[in-house]
Amino acid sequence: MADNRENWGSKVGLILAMAGNAVGLGNFWRFPYVAASNGGGAFMIPYFFALIVIGIPVMLVEWSIGRYGGKFGHGTLGPMMYLQARQGMEPKKAIIVGALCGTIAFSVTILVNSYYNHIIGWSLGYAVHSVLGTYMKPGVDPAMFFANYVQDPKMLVFWVISLVCLAYAVMKGIQEGIESWAKIMMPVLYVFGIVLGIRALTLGSPVNPDWSSLKGLNFIWNPDFSELSWKSAIAAAGQIFFTLSLGMGIIHNYASYLKPDEDIVTASVATISLNEFAEVILGGTAVIPIAYAFLGPEGIKGSIGLAFMALPNVFSTMTGGGIFGAVWFMLLFFAGITSAIAMYNYLVALLEEDAGIERKKGAMIVFVGYLIVGAPIALESVLTHSANLIYFTEVDNWIGNYLLIVLGLIEVIVIGWCVKDRALDEMNRGGLWKVPKWFFRLFHQFLTPITIIIFLTFFTIDYA
Ligand code: PHE
Repeated sequence: MADNRENWGSKVGLILAMAGNAVGLGNFWRFPYVAASNGGGAFMIPYFFALIVIGIPVMLVEWSIGRYGGKFGHGTLGPMMYLQARQGMEPKKAIIVGALCGTIAFSVTILVNSYYNHIIGWSLGYAVHSVLGTYMKPGVDPAMFFANYVQDPKMLVFWVISLVCLAYAVMKGIQEGIESWAKIMMPVLYVFGIVLGIRALTLGSPVNPDWSSLKGLNFIWNPDFSELSWKSAIAAAGQIFFTLSLGMGIIHNYASYLKPDEDIVTASVATISLNEFAEVILGGTAVIPIAYAFLGPEGIKGSIGLAFMALPNVFSTMTGGGIFGAVWFMLLFFAGITSAIAMYNYLVALLEEDAGIERKKGAMIVFVGYLIVGAPIALESVLTHSANLIYFTEVDNWIGNYLLIVLGLIEVIVIGWCVKDRALDEMNRGGLWKVPKWFFRLFHQFLTPITIIIFLTFFTIDYA
């Protein structure tokens, strides 16, 4: 089955596809609102801590599980294959671990897509509205515009168009579809981000002279230690999982198309660096300061609509705002599409390799599945005539702060404690750079699982 699987066409294509997988709405839509609502600068301390202690080690684990599991198919069964083949674990037990990981990965992917694709749709819709100048007309309040937008069933057409784009890219396969889309979309995304970041830094506040974008930079880069809390630490850890695409099946799945001795350490470091550049430099420098200039220190602690409510204010008051608006929302759209392609491809690979359903048919099944799971989110605001998005926010909270982290924990325990040094050998096979033994012992066996357990415990206590 696995012999005729596709591989990535080129190193650049692979890195850009991986960056496309990781750099997503998480960077430009989720990061600003989560960081701003959790203390700004104070959020960045646990954020960087979680990046080093959880993000890097788990990323290495997922790449190696995926590459190893790729011999047998889509990659998420890697932990099971490891346990069975390399560890000599009883097949029955190994299958339980594999089934558990697979089920969590599959369910979380579906759940994420129940709302993620809607934000891609909003981005496309807003790009069109920017060009048309709808939200820039005198007397239109961007927050009201957003509320009306999410309640308007006609706008769901942008959601469906986004789903069609995804299905089309995934049907084309790895090299022709995913890789070639990422090669165009990712460089354009970085250029867009840099243009907006530069514009953001020169923005004064038309609302209050005290709220310039430079003050906004201060808000995110100069921590107020009194704002540090467990709540912000949990949010930071969750954001690391979300933004790096960890704790689902999608890193494994992309890694499963690696050649058996392709370098995992370099690929992990490249993915993380490209993602963090987009998140903390572009997301942190463009979105947060712009939002701050219009909303100020209190208003910025906003909701999931922050990117859609705050930024249009800027576009409506600046010359060429329509163009900048379209650039920003197309950036969001590209970021979202390249990540959603990764999720979509994972589900199609599952159908193809576990159920023998041909790629095109699989893509159609996922398309219909997405319409069904996305319906409650679509209907929430339409039927309740409100833009509170309570269910939406709750799903995002559970995904980001809990479900992704659970899979991460199972994986590090399997790798760090069940497979141990053999997993380290697998991680280092073929690599230019090697993961040192002390790093594996310190992080994969101790710091990473312990930190994850602490975060999960506090999240549970918080909810109890
Ligand atoms: N990492 C991507 C993002 O930041 C996609 C993703 C979202 C992956 C949610 C996993 C979970 O948007």
